[in-house]
Amino acid sequence: MVIMKCIRCLIHVVLCVLLSKVTYSSGQTPGRRSRYEPNWASLDQRPLPRWYDEAKVGIFLHYGVYSVPSFGSEWFWTNWKNLRNPDYIRFMQRNYKPDFTYQQFAGDFTAELFNATQWALLFRDSGASAPFISQVFMAPLLDVMPYVDIIFGNEAEAHAFATAQGWPTDDLREIGKRLVALKKLNTERPRIAILTQGCDPVLLIQHDSIQEFPVKMLAVHEIVDTNGAGDAFVGGFLSQYVQGKSMDVCIRCGNYAAGHIIKNPGCTYSGASEFVE
Ligand SMILES: *[C@@H]1O[C@H](CO)[C@@H](O)[C@H](O)[C@H]1NC(C)=O
Repeated sequence: MVIMKCIRCLIHVVLCVLLSKVTYSSGQTPGRRSRYEPNWASLDQRPLPRWYDEAKVGIFLHYGVYSVPSFGSEWFWTNWKNLRNPDYIRFMQRNYKPDFTYQQFAGDFTAELFNATQWALLFRDSGASAPFISQVFMAPLLDVMPYVDIIFGNEAEAHAFATAQGWPTDDLREIGKRLVALKKLNTERPRIAILTQGCDPVLLIQHDSIQEFPVKMLAVHEIVDTNGAGDAFVGGFLSQYVQGKSMDVCIRCGNYAAGHIIKNPGCTYSGASEFVE
């Protein structure tokens, strides 16, 4: 599980379900997964997520059978077997039977204390972008998708969703088209997707059109804290949407609210709204 924070991604967290009655259905099949064989040739085919190369700061997390001895680091095998580090050899002599193999740790790797929600909350609270929603919660995400009228996401989240679904594209417009085309129960109100890309234009994807809406650039010194920017965008957008305003007004208000929030520490605001239609 790997999460990155992209400083350009001012907008975070977001797959929003709204204005529709949300009912959870069960028995939905999760997205298609690639199957890998236990050899390097196969494992190395796993694609690197785009943001792994592109983002500047990230949270990188390892989890494996070395968590069973919980000694040293994830380089346990190398330190013990290849480098024959005396600390590791002593640790094994003291705690395991002779001839115990690294592979035998697997039997005790039950992950019974692993709690995906706790990790997700930690990443959210760190202000990281939120591809983990697609990586960890794909099944519940697909469960609610038929009820979703409006999907908000930033580019990292859209790419994470596409990767988790096995969509053979990293084109944001194409991903948006596929998102709006996913099965929807209420066909009277076609789904729309709103994908943000930092200071590049916001994309509004409807079933038959894609429009771009420019984002006002902030000077670097004006940006105080990007936490909550995605939520603020959604809030600004909805404040106009429920009043029946045009998409142009809704998105401009989303950008206004996000722009305001990132100039303040935490998800706080001050003064009266200066948003003008
Ligand atoms: C996982 O963590 C969440 C958040 O702390 C908590 O509400 C939930 O009860 C935990 N689940 C289990 C099975 O411990």
